[in-house]
Amino acid sequence: MGSKSFFSQTSNYHFSFYGYICSPKEELMYTLKINFEEKGQQPVIFENLEPGQTLLEICLKNDIELHHNCGGVCACTTCHLYIEKGMESVDEITDKEEDFIDRAVNPRLNSRLGCQSLLLDGDGEIEITLPDQTQFLGE
Ligand code: FES
Repeated sequence: MGSKSFFSQTSNYHFSFYGYICSPKEELMYTLKINFEEKGQQPVIFENLEPGQTLLEICLKNDIELHHNCGGVCACTTCHLYIEKGMESVDEITDKEEDFIDRAVNPRLNSRLGCQSLLLDGDGEIEITLPDQTQFLGE
């Protein structure tokens, strides 16, 4: 057996009132497919994504280039993306976000800002398309 502790090996289980291990903890996770408008970029799929994080955060954690010039505070348009599938799994759009999307390059009905697209509690499949990032300067 390796050097992992008892607790790290059993982290997918929870304990009953009496301290017994009961059953695997129900974990709700998302799968995210990312398409790219940039030529030559192939789609990628990430699995087992926890709710409570934004699409921008997921991209950055996984080394996917998505510009975010304002630092993720809904004050620019560089994290603009399209949600092709799973819009219901993402936090509702605000008036402020809509205002910025109107200023984005090529906005569509399924446009969102990656930094404002928070995954809600739940699970399922989400598919997004990222605009060509070579058109942006900055972060
Ligand atoms: S990073 Fe600026 S609005 Fe999302």
